[in-house]
Amino acid sequence: MAAHDKEALELFEQGLSYEQIRERLGLRTTKQVNHAIDRARKARQDPPPSTDLTAAIREALKRPVARGILCDRLKISDRILTAAIEDLRESGIQVVETDGELSLCRDVVPEENIHEAPWSGEKVIRFAFAGDMQINSKFTQLTHLHHFYDICQSEGISVIYNPGDIDEGEDMRQGHKYECYNQGADDHVAEIVKNFPARPGIKTYFITGNHDHSLIKRAGYDIGHAIAQKRDDLVYLGQSFATINLTPNCILELRHPIDGTAYAISYKTQKMIDAMHGGEKPNILAIGHYHKAEYIFYRNVHAFQTGCFQAQTNWMRGKQIAAHVGGWIVEIHVTDEGTVTRCKGEFIPYFRAIKDDYLNWR
Ligand SMILES: [Fe+2]
Repeated sequence: MAAHDKEALELFEQGLSYEQIRERLGLRTTKQVNHAIDRARKARQDPPPSTDLTAAIREALKRPVARGILCDRLKISDRILTAAIEDLRESGIQVVETDGELSLCRDVVPEENIHEAPWSGEKVIRFAFAGDMQINSKFTQLTHLHHFYDICQSEGISVIYNPGDIDEGEDMRQGHKYECYNQGADDHVAEIVKNFPARPGIKTYFITGNHDHSLIKRAGYDIGHAIAQKRDDLVYLGQSFATINLTPNCILELRHPIDGTAYAISYKTQKMIDAMHGGEKPNILAIGHYHKAEYIFYRNVHAFQTGCFQAQTNWMRGKQIAAHVGGWIVEIHVTDEGTVTRCKGEFIPYFRAIKDDYLNWR
């Protein structure tokens, strides 16, 4: 479409004649005006073909389909189909291919997610933990979350690690939808992109948890990729687990378990560390999911439960599950061998939940 096409159509719709438009735009003939208006009309009517195509493929993949049949149905070449599937995968749609048949993968497949943190030899490293904000739940505490990010910014923190459940997810149990203020995966993603704190100089590195994964189970859609595509400051590290090399020898592990909470706050952390092999323990462990705040040093692991930014829900109240709303700012001293010789954790609690806080962010 030429640069003047859109303007030609606008002038035509304002009532100018072809001759007047020709003069205004400096074109040689009225035939050129006619072509410009036609092109602009066509561009307005036709959505971008790539959006159209990926949507059609996404719809078709609700049932398994052979690659050749899909190409014939959509009247596209195999090369175009391959490129469109790549686009879908980058946006979080889990497309798998088995024996030439394409389908959506609705499973969470555990993978090793290893991330190298930028490091230039510092012996003292500072970062923060904030997780389980469960955005799109009517109990999310966005105001407190934003306040926590403000504190991190004023404290010079540039990296915040999030051990999962950025989203509340869908259909976690019967009646769960009544606890959500948005319905549908696309609206959930849009809300997170809009309202998750953005602060200059701060990047959030996140994994996804069981609530986020509900959208994988329903629609083969990993929202972690979709969120990261739309926000440069939100970096997606993978599903359920991530290993972060803070230095070449100092490891931080993010973990989002899937089991139920225990009555004793430290019980799950201890059992988790008990189950680790001797040579494979991280130096620091950050655990989400249980919505508890805890620091424990056990078997040479500095373990944090990272708290949450969701108030106690009615369901949690019924199950006698407490919510420790807040996040951590952490400072560690590290040797060349990766040993953490000092570990200072400052928990920033939000004791009073804000009722219906999501309404303050509409
Ligand atoms: Fe969780």
